[in-house]
Amino acid sequence: MKLPQLTLTLFLLLFVAETSMAQEKGSTLFEEKCAACHLKQRPSFEAMNTMIAPPIMGVMTHVKDAKAAKAEAVGFIADYIFEPTPAKALCMKQSIDRFGLMPSQKGNLTKEEAITIAGYLYDNYGYSK
Ligand code: HEC
Repeated sequence: MKLPQLTLTLFLLLFVAETSMAQEKGSTLFEEKCAACHLKQRPSFEAMNTMIAPPIMGVMTHVKDAKAAKAEAVGFIADYIFEPTPAKALCMKQSIDRFGLMPSQKGNLTKEEAITIAGYLYDNYGYSK
């Protein structure tokens, strides 16, 4: 292999490794910081009655409806985690009526962790048009 090719190959390998590490980190952080309230899977009939926040699939569908670009969606989520307000909320009004406003997660995670989680959510949940 010639040097430029080798450099490109190494670069791509590093890129892939880093991307999958971010995915794994995002998934672990979500479990630790968000999953106690937001279900990852479609809720069972029983879970429908006991859940305390909208499941993340639905949340991400609403976020992507309003913010299709990844950078915008990630920016929105990373901000909302720390400073939720009814005016900012993109989800259906019924969500806040039923569950109340999401409590600020200030102090529970860093801004960097919030961005990692938001990127992971964008890549894995919700439909985009
Ligand atoms: C203590 C429970 C709780 C935790 C922990 C929690 N959330 Fe929430 N979250 C809620 C509730 C309740 C709502 C629905 C009301 C609202 O939108 O504020 C919500 C809504 C959201 C929304 C939609 C905002 C909107 O209305 O547009 C996003 C995005 C979100 N959460 C992301 C996260 C992420 C990411 C984490 C982990 C860092 C997290 N939440 C942790 C309870 C929680």
